[in-house]
Amino acid sequence: MLAHRSPRSSALYILLALGLAATFLYYRPSIPTQVATTLRGDSTGRPANRTLGFGGLYVVSGPGSPRRAHLEEAAAVTEMNLTIPAQVAWTDEDVQRFQSDKESESQVLTGSVKAWLSHHLVLREFLESGLETALFFEDDVDWDIRLRTQQIPLAQQAVQQLSDATVLDAEAYPWGTDADWDLLYVGHCGDYFGNVEDGVGVGHNYPEQLTSIRHVRYEDPTMLPRYDLHPYTANLLDAFNIPQKTRLVHQSKWPLCTFGYAVTRRTAERILTEIAPPYEQPERNIKAYDVAILSGCRDGPLKCYTVTPELFHHMEGESLIADAEASERQIFRPPVDAAGLEQVRYRKETSNIGCGFFDGSFYYSGDENKLGELRGMAWSKECLKQRKPQSV
Ligand SMILES: *[C@@H]1O[C@H](CO)[C@@H](O)[C@H](O)[C@H]1NC(C)=O
Ligand SMILES: *[C@@H]1O[C@H](CO)[C@@H](O)[C@H](O)[C@H]1NC(C)=O
Repeated sequence: MLAHRSPRSSALYILLALGLAATFLYYRPSIPTQVATTLRGDSTGRPANRTLGFGGLYVVSGPGSPRRAHLEEAAAVTEMNLTIPAQVAWTDEDVQRFQSDKESESQVLTGSVKAWLSHHLVLREFLESGLETALFFEDDVDWDIRLRTQQIPLAQQAVQQLSDATVLDAEAYPWGTDADWDLLYVGHCGDYFGNVEDGVGVGHNYPEQLTSIRHVRYEDPTMLPRYDLHPYTANLLDAFNIPQKTRLVHQSKWPLCTFGYAVTRRTAERILTEIAPPYEQPERNIKAYDVAILSGCRDGPLKCYTVTPELFHHMEGESLIADAEASERQIFRPPVDAAGLEQVRYRKETSNIGCGFFDGSFYYSGDENKLGELRGMAWSKECLKQRKPQSV
């Protein structure tokens, strides 16, 4: 009874209460904006549908692109339905209209203006389609033959963990609802949580960079061993203490390149008018379309997530293997590509892609039997590629 409690037991109660309070303060549950789960394995075993769970798959491919035929073969093997809007051959006039400030020298070079306008054309076509979401990619990207059967379903489950919906109908909304994100970087050349020119890995990156933001880690058996990942990606995952065969979906911090990005309708509209409008804004000092998107994610207003390592990555020219020295001499590569080049050459695979199309083994050139075989390979956990004998 309270009335009979001795001073000694009161002191005990107080100590106990203090202890409890300290415990709660110390073991504070993670703040609600953080999500950190580890998903194990694929719980459904079902492939993603032919548009990877988005409304559509839109390709930005210039007129007469030499990549087109191979891209369509890769899509047939992976059983994806692509929408490839007819592009316009942009004129000098179109370019000048973009570079509005004729007084000073324009920051956005002609090639970048044309690429920018091509992305716009495809975004507008998506908006006209009435679809709710779409994934956009450039026609020189590579992906793993197990993309649709294994990798995308796992990534979808991870993104569903980040959904704020109390009850999510994962069948109808495999990537969560359009309230959950504005833009998803599924393909990129790295989100290194800072300026890549400052360095990547231990000494530059530390686990709290990841644990302080919304993220999910998930196992993906198709993932490359650490030593075969692009050196920057390997360094980043090491610095975050991420186990082997584990991918991350995390709030975008510094996502480079627009190799494969998904948007909602609202985001497409905002990109066209506000995030990356079709005219130069000298005060923003943005030199290319992908930098405008990066800025929209990193500095706001967009809510973006990145899959790390990426599931789409742009391919080196197919001449790289055949004529290594010539391609090295002639082509300027941004720092991330330059750092991955040697590895691409000896792996004969695109950076961060495990079992891709780059080396040509997975093209079937109209052979329906081979197409059937290749489609079967997509279900294996292992990469069943039979490498072409080295040409002399
Ligand atoms: C794939 O799934 C998404 C989401 O449910 C849907 O919007 C889309 O129409 C589906 N694609 C195909 C080709 O059925
Ligand atoms: C996808 O493409 C295939 C082959 O071109 C076609 O037969 C099929 O009807 C398309 N499916 C959808 C849902 O668009």
